[in-house]
Amino acid sequence: MSDDHAAAPDPRAELKREAAEAALQEVQDGMRLGLGTGSTARFVIEGVGRLVAQGLRVTAVATSEASVRLAQQYAIPLTDLTPAGLDLAIDGADEVDPTGGLIKGGGGALLREKLVASAARRFVVVVDETKQVAQLGNHFKVPVEIVRWGWERTAAQLEAYHPTLRRTPDGALFVTDNGNLILDCATGPMDQPLAVHRQMKSLVGVVETGLFIGIARRALVATTGGVKSVEFDDPHGHGLK
Ligand code: A5P
Repeated sequence: MSDDHAAAPDPRAELKREAAEAALQEVQDGMRLGLGTGSTARFVIEGVGRLVAQGLRVTAVATSEASVRLAQQYAIPLTDLTPAGLDLAIDGADEVDPTGGLIKGGGGALLREKLVASAARRFVVVVDETKQVAQLGNHFKVPVEIVRWGWERTAAQLEAYHPTLRRTPDGALFVTDNGNLILDCATGPMDQPLAVHRQMKSLVGVVETGLFIGIARRALVATTGGVKSVEFDDPHGHGLK
């Protein structure tokens, strides 16, 4: 039950659209694409749909049921994630640090998003400038997807991060597309986000974390002065791929 791209007016919508449009320049005929989730990825999906209507031939894997529905609306041919992987994945993020580390999962789709981003030869993140941070955890809590059974025990294992069980705006339990729950964890600014990811992931009951370290190869950051492109390598060789 990831977000279905809520329709409330978004003051950053134009910047998000510009970042998405810039990323579309990497899309080529014949590619296998990964389509993200969220209000920025929505512009990517709309753009791919426009290109498909103009004759582009691609197949795509969508990272949430909401994005599947959107892609179907635009007649984008969808497929499953196979061992062949993907040529290019494009997705939004909640925070981006100077090395390309990300927090993702604000929409609750982090598990499929990480499967898709990790399966892509190139992962491009599209954000507006408010998502840039000096250190991950500055503003945003780290979403952690956990299995439902025994969730209170798993939450207790994460107590150092003051986990909050995610609920929908109307107070119902937030259940992911995979039938799991989300704990939003207040890590604070992290010096070693990969170590935090590994520690969380080592806990029984944790399925995946929203820390995407060493996976993104490019960020397209839309600012009021234009779209800035930042390339990332993996200097520590610690990408999660
Ligand atoms: C979805 O689960 C998230 O990872 C999104 O990619 C992230 O929350 C960014 O969303 P927006 O583009 O809506 O800000």
